[in-house]
Amino acid sequence: DQKKSLEGKTVLITAGPTYEAIDPVRFIGNHSSGKMGFSLAEEAAKRGAKVILVSGPSSLKQKHENIDLHRVTSAKEMLDKVFEYYETIDIGIASAAVADYAPKIVASEKIKKNEDSFTIELIKNPDILKTMGEKKSHQFLVGFALETQNEEENAKGKLTKKNLDMIVLNSLRDEGAGFKNDTNKIKIFTKTEKIEFDLKSKENVAKDILDCIEAQFLK
Ligand code: PMT
Repeated sequence: DQKKSLEGKTVLITAGPTYEAIDPVRFIGNHSSGKMGFSLAEEAAKRGAKVILVSGPSSLKQKHENIDLHRVTSAKEMLDKVFEYYETIDIGIASAAVADYAPKIVASEKIKKNEDSFTIELIKNPDILKTMGEKKSHQFLVGFALETQNEEENAKGKLTKKNLDMIVLNSLRDEGAGFKNDTNKIKIFTKTEKIEFDLKSKENVAKDILDCIEAQFLK
């Protein structure tokens, strides 16, 4: 039996959106389906890694037995779950689309439509990946950047600001890239390199990302 490339490694992956409650029936969220993160989890598991998959609300199911799936709802819950495991991981990949803001007050009853105009005050959520970067010791950290403008500049900014080893850029300006699609088109930046890829299925994008991680991390 050939040794698998990620055998003995623990990989933590965040996936999906987060939902930030407004009241018992409403939330602030986004269009992430979880496909990118679940594809990464499957591929890492196939390569022999022990995978901790922390996912926001998604209809997807994990298939591989090496995947330990933790379902969370809000950014705060995702942060807490990630840091239950952070010390034990070798590689962290943040593919979740975390809501940047959450309602300051969550109404305990359904909000009635009495007013013509209605304001919700939002406060900043914790930045999970930035916190991972601040607490980094041995972990190899990979972030995503979802951009609509100044893509490369913003992605490289996040690589530095969040203390990452690698960042995966996907742009909503590229057709077939980003949310929901079964495909994605990415560019990967390390501190010194830039690699561009064609539009591919998210399964194959996951392979490219893990190939790059292995080339950097296992060298
Ligand atoms: O789920 P799919 O439908 O398959 O779509 C995949 C995807 C488009 C969601 C995915 O490929 C992607 O780009 N994920 C990151 C989306 C995002 O929120 O990007 P960002 O540029 O806003 O955030 C930068 C990085 O910081 C990301 O790694 C993000 O996970 C992380 N972050 C951001 C904010 C926050 N509060 N906490 C975080 O950890």
